Amino acid sequence: MKKPAIRHFLDLADLSAADLRGLIDKALARKAARAGLAKAAPDNDAPLVGRILAMLFDKPSTRTRVSFDLAMRQLGGQVLVLNQSDMQIGRGEALADTAQVLSRYVDALMIRTSAHEQLIELATHATIPVINGLTHFSHPCQLVADIMTVEEHCGAIKGQKIAWLGDGNNVAVSWIHAACLLDFELHLAVPDAFRPPQTVLDWAAEHKAQVSIGTDPKAAVQGACAVTTDCWVSMSDDPTTTAKREKAFLPYQVTESLMALSDNAIFLHCLPAYRGKEVAPQVIDGAQSVIFDEAENRTHAQKAILHWCLATDIP
Ligand code: CP
Ligand code: NVA
Repeated sequence: MKKPAIRHFLDLADLSAADLRGLIDKALARKAARAGLAKAAPDNDAPLVGRILAMLFDKPSTRTRVSFDLAMRQLGGQVLVLNQSDMQIGRGEALADTAQVLSRYVDALMIRTSAHEQLIELATHATIPVINGLTHFSHPCQLVADIMTVEEHCGAIKGQKIAWLGDGNNVAVSWIHAACLLDFELHLAVPDAFRPPQTVLDWAAEHKAQVSIGTDPKAAVQGACAVTTDCWVSMSDDPTTTAKREKAFLPYQVTESLMALSDNAIFLHCLPAYRGKEVAPQVIDGAQSVIFDEAENRTHAQKAILHWCLATDIP
């Protein structure tokens, strides 16, 4: 019998709309099924007993690290946390060799790294599923949790208006991919110098995604059901550009007066957040903010992703 193709989770753009819809629905169902369980308790089913996920980090993480760890444990599996600087990759061992070696040891590999090319190189050579835990290009796991959170608070996302303010960064790219797959309007307000990559905007146009991009934050938030932003200096950005970036992004800070133009929108932020920079404290700490639901949903989302990646391998 032919071996099923490996299910990597590298970018939402590689998924079908049905795959992404399925992931969100599974994540919501897993969340509902945990009602009444202690935080550390395993789920009632434990489909990943005997499976091990290796998590390879070249950048810091709180939510992605903890939520993948919890997700594996609650599904019956285990994790290994590997820091790239402690590994031979840090001394120049080929990623291709590392991918093949880890494929002999563990059942799935999550990587957080700056260079998207590293992720692709690992996935090209691995014989196990590889998951993108954030690169400088994209952050697809975040979006499964973010869409879940929108749907919990605003209902089905199809046809809704979402506003993205600030940097056209990795999280913005994954929002663009999601808008195309799930058929919602995404309005980005970003300075000209910080637009998402043109290849991504071209991809969105080719796929007839309802994505608009401009420089006016008021137009972007007008009538939106969710307003979202992210830090102005990402982990892989050159820190010496901080002053220049903060000056360019200041008009895009999510303030109470901007939120007042929305349709009583929820406020989302993938975190970590910097109060007084990309968002006013009154907004992120105010009644419209759902950032901790969003952070919690990372665990439920990771479970759906892990199950999807390993499903072809689960008896
Ligand atoms: N949102 C997110 O990915 O957070 P961490 O960097 O803490 O993993
Ligand atoms: N854009 C941010 C997201 C952090 C989760 C970064 O890359 O640092």
